[in-house]
Amino acid sequence: MQDTRRTSLFDLSGRTALVTGSARGIGFSLAEGLAHAGARVIVNGTRADTVEQAVGRLGAQGLEAQGRAFDVTDEAAVAEAFEQWDTKGVQVDILINNAGIQFRKPLVELELSDWQRVIDTNLTSAFIVAKQAARRMIGRGTGGKIINIGSLTSEGARATVGAYTAAKGGVKMLTRAMSAEWAAANIQANAIGPGYILTDMNQALIDNAAFDAWVKSSNPSQRWGKPEELVGTAVYLASAASSYVNGQIIYVDGGWLAVL
Ligand SMILES: NC(=O)c1ccc[n+]([C@@H]2O[C@H](COP(=O)([O-])OP(=O)(O)OC[C@H]3O[C@@H](n4cnc5c(N)ncnc54)[C@H](OP(=O)(O)O)[C@@H]3O)[C@@H](O)[C@H]2O)c1
Repeated sequence: MQDTRRTSLFDLSGRTALVTGSARGIGFSLAEGLAHAGARVIVNGTRADTVEQAVGRLGAQGLEAQGRAFDVTDEAAVAEAFEQWDTKGVQVDILINNAGIQFRKPLVELELSDWQRVIDTNLTSAFIVAKQAARRMIGRGTGGKIINIGSLTSEGARATVGAYTAAKGGVKMLTRAMSAEWAAANIQANAIGPGYILTDMNQALIDNAAFDAWVKSSNPSQRWGKPEELVGTAVYLASAASSYVNGQIIYVDGGWLAVL
């Protein structure tokens, strides 16, 4: 039982956090936010050069960061990364499964290969990476934190993003499955469902005046979200403050789902 009088509930000092897909976008903001809360962070993306640039941006702020490029859909590459961290004494206490891609096409035109790519990157990757992290958390007996990044499409569907919707719906239920299996080992597995956030993933939509106007008019906050607005929820879910919160998805969407 934690003593809330003596511990800072949101302090991540002494913890190591792996944030997948954190070379840019939401993942970078989450890595930066966890590092400001005291964590050592491991930055990941598909490219070594952009991962190292992100590590440099964190280091320039005096934050403790290291990088590791790998493809989250490549089970062997993920296992190798964890094995190398084992040999260096690096323990992942907090995992944020953030890496993801979007691909827009009506279902009747969608190639199976594109369906598979979207499912692999947004859903199967969370299983692949969390399996490595959770095995070690269970083996150490330390417990840990797993935060999966869902979406508004974890809750509702929209046209042209069928594979993404299936994947993010799956992320919500995978989060519950993780809780069912790992809560007894003091692992809290939860998810964040971001609303429409200003990142590269949405650049075509941001540049589309009609879509931009729709996002603003359909959201009670009347604006897009910023990546850094997800940090508070991530720090909460990564910290002792959420020690009895498990299997939940918290939507950070400006109120979008509330008015559906
Ligand atoms: N933006 C939104 O409105 C929004 C809303 C709901 C949910 N989300 C979710 O939030 C997460 C981040 O989205 P974002 O908007 O920040 O996207 P983004 O700006 O496109 O960044 C995606 C990040 O994921 C990495 N990535 C993609 N495929 C990968 C793979 N196979 N292996 C390792 N890394 C991979 C990218 O690496 P590289 O830099 O090497 O390309 C990049 O760092 C995603 O899961 C997304 O579905 C976003």
